[in-house]
Amino acid sequence: MTSKAKPAGRLLYAQSGGVTAVINATAAGVIDAARAKGVPVYAAHNGILGALREELIDTSKETKAAIAALRHTPGGAFGSCRYKLKSLEANRTEYERLIDVFRAHDIRWFLYNGGNDSADTALKISQLGKAMDYDIRCIGVPKTVDNDLAVTDCCPGFGSVAKYTAVSTLEASLDVASMADTSTKVFILEVMGRHAGWIAAAAGLAGEGADAPPHIILFPERAFDEAAFLAKVKATVERVGWCTVVASEGLLNAEGQFLAEAGTRDAFGHSQLGGVAPVLAALVKEKLGYKYHWALPDYLQRSARHLASKTDADQAYAVGKAAVDYALAGMNAVMPVIVRTSDAPYRWKIEPAPLSKIANREKKMPANFLTRDGFGITAAARRYLGPLIQGEAPPPYGKNGLPQYVTLKNTMVARKLEPFAR
Ligand code: F6P
Repeated sequence: MTSKAKPAGRLLYAQSGGVTAVINATAAGVIDAARAKGVPVYAAHNGILGALREELIDTSKETKAAIAALRHTPGGAFGSCRYKLKSLEANRTEYERLIDVFRAHDIRWFLYNGGNDSADTALKISQLGKAMDYDIRCIGVPKTVDNDLAVTDCCPGFGSVAKYTAVSTLEASLDVASMADTSTKVFILEVMGRHAGWIAAAAGLAGEGADAPPHIILFPERAFDEAAFLAKVKATVERVGWCTVVASEGLLNAEGQFLAEAGTRDAFGHSQLGGVAPVLAALVKEKLGYKYHWALPDYLQRSARHLASKTDADQAYAVGKAAVDYALAGMNAVMPVIVRTSDAPYRWKIEPAPLSKIANREKKMPANFLTRDGFGITAAARRYLGPLIQGEAPPPYGKNGLPQYVTLKNTMVARKLEPFAR
């Protein structure tokens, strides 16, 4: 193939796992790069399930303006899913079905945009070609607000949730400070992050110094110490007049159990979390008697595109573009990762990394990012986190005062196969 020749075949792109404020920027990067090379792109409806069910979306039906608008639209434009493919030995039917769908639609490149579980799925699919005698290249594309993917310096989606968290911590703290004399003394914000405290840590960017909020951050990396927590809340209220606490949803007790879990599990066996803030608030009320407010931004934090980090939005687009370059260059079983080349000024580049080094691993906060008492972040953490929330890339607003987000046409490709019976 000469560099100008149009590569034969189609590229399939799928979104996976929890979506982010910028995952659609990655989709735009993928589609723009593929269009520039003359490669048609299908998108799977609802992630890998769309591939299995032969629910494929023809992105060529979308205008250039619609694809450009994906760069500032949150959510997952093609739908996402939590669905775990078993091993080839355990469920060959599913893999055979995927190859049947790929073959029927001449899919030669598969790009799977997700977190560590999705990297595992991508790795399995990358091994399909050999096992089933069909030429398919698979590239994992990074995404997760949790920022817990191995190898990459940071994960697209994280910078924006980090910015939302730092800004919200700052703003709510101004509110509490105003009211503290006669009303609320303690404000507790609960953030996502499952097993890693990256999002909670980002709240620390809201202020620096003992009296600046957040006064207490509770990380999943440190077991919850009730006595130390209550002592610090009390000391802060007595010294400052009020206290802002940021707690990770994945906070564990000394026995290693989640302080708050809903009792349900997803397809990957992850517990559904949420509700640690009211547990802490009740404790503060019962033991210290302070009036409190708590907030659980939940999906608000990972969909807040109006407050996205420009750095994050740029990186999300860049990994999508790089994934297409890698796929068309014939690479397989790799992921474009973000490499930091300098803290100040912040510089980064994209490089391919083997999926085998990323799949099913979780990157937690390093010990030197947490202060000795475990309730705050260090200068090293600030150096790492600071650049990731830099810059604003607000969406355009319409006359109605709302962001102008795009809804794609999502035109389905005609089916060629019988429905998939599992
Ligand atoms: O994708 C990561 C994440 O945002 C976690 O931080 C959170 O615990 C989880 O997803 C929520 O998942 P779901 O939307 O499937 O309930």
